[in-house]
Formats: sequence, C-alpha cells, structure tokens
Amino acid sequence: MSWLQVLKSRFPASQAAQELRWIQQELPKSQWQTAVEQRARLVPLQYILGSQPFGDLTIKCKPGVLIPRNDTEEWCEALKQVIAKSNGPVDVLEYCTGSGCIGLSIATLANVRKVIALDINKQALALSKENLQLNSAKIKAKVEFQYGDLLKHQLPQTSATLLLSNPPYIPREHFSPAGGVEESPGNVRGFCL
Ligand SMILES: C[S@@+](CC[C@H](N)C(=O)[O-])C[C@H]1O[C@@H](n2cnc3c(N)ncnc32)[C@H](O)[C@@H]1O
Repeated sequence: MSWLQVLKSRFPASQAAQELRWIQQELPKSQWQTAVEQRARLVPLQYILGSQPFGDLTIKCKPGVLIPRNDTEEWCEALKQVIAKSNGPVDVLEYCTGSGCIGLSIATLANVRKVIALDINKQALALSKENLQLNSAKIKAKVEFQYGDLLKHQLPQTSATLLLSNPPYIPREHFSPAGGVEESPGNVRGFCL
C-alpha cells in the first residue's frame, strides 16, 4: 500500500493528502515511513511533526503537554489587540501555561514588560522554556516559567496587571474517546485532545 493509501484508510481523501504533504514538507525523507505509520495509529499530527503554528510563533509540541488549540489561538489574538491598546507597561501572570503558547504570544507585544507563567507539569515547564528559546527573536517582554500549583495558591511574589489562564477543562471521566474526546486531531493543524 502507498503512504497515501495508508492515510486514506484512516482519514477522508483530502485530509490524507494534506497530511502527507505536511509530513513530506516538514520531516526528512528518512522519517516519512514512520510518520505515516504513527499517523495511521492516530498519533496527533503535531506530535509527529513536532510543532504547531500559534499566531506568529512556532510552538514545539511533545506528548504529555497539551497541543495548542485553534480556539485558544483565536482568543489569544483577540486578547492581544485589547492589550496592545493599553497604556503603560503590562505585567502578566499566567496560570496553567502548558506549552507556553499564550504567555509567549502575549510577550511579543511591545507594551508588555513581564510575563510570569506557571504550571504543575514539569514536562510542560521544560517545553515552555524550549518554546521561549525557539521564539526568542519575537519576544519583547521578560519571560519566566515557574513551577506553581493553582490549587495550593502558590503565587509568585510579584504584582501583575493581568491574570490569565486556560485551565484544565475536560472532566477526567470524559478523557477517553468513549467519553466524547476526539481520538486524534482533525484535518486542521491545531485540533487536539
Ligand atoms: C488546558 S491546559 C492549557 C495549556 C495552555 N495554556 C494552552 O492553552 O494550550 C491546562 C494546563 O494546566 C496545568 N495544570 C493543571 N492543574 C494545575 C494546577 N493545579 N496548577 C497549575 N497548573 C495546572 C496542566 O499541567 C496543563 O498544562
């Protein structure tokens, strides 16, 4: 079976063709076979390709950390327009930062002075720091990623103008295909569990 046929056996024809194009554009040839096999096992495309566009940024994606969603990106772009109109330096505290996508995106604004972003997942913190490095040319604010548990009120000793969070929103009992959560991304890069 060709790679396209393998993908068509799992996805609609147009999605299969688009995903094969992305795999072939973004990965070295030596990884195409494995990538198609992984995708046919419904591994999220972003974990296979290793990244997801988020506004002007490229956000690295790794298993164990939520893939940034399209609706989060849209919300964040709208929020940036509001913050950009604000006078004076804006200091942001973000809970539940995950990959760091929201905090880093806000940190690209010229009037944002500082972003402190917290998470309890050490894998997420490591990835958010990689994402800071990857996007450093576009980041204007001072950014710090720190360990912090929202439920234990672990607040850094800092003042903030703006408090942000995209907290966990899927009840544990729904966290399976049977519970209504998609098993894999759809045909838009950005859809995720
Ligand atoms: C829905 S994800 C959001 C990730 C990212 N902000 C985004 O929008 O893609 C929720 C994040 O909250 C973190 N989290 C869960 N419980 C937490 C807690 N008690 N304190 C801080 N972070 C928590 C998880 O590790 C996860 O990274």
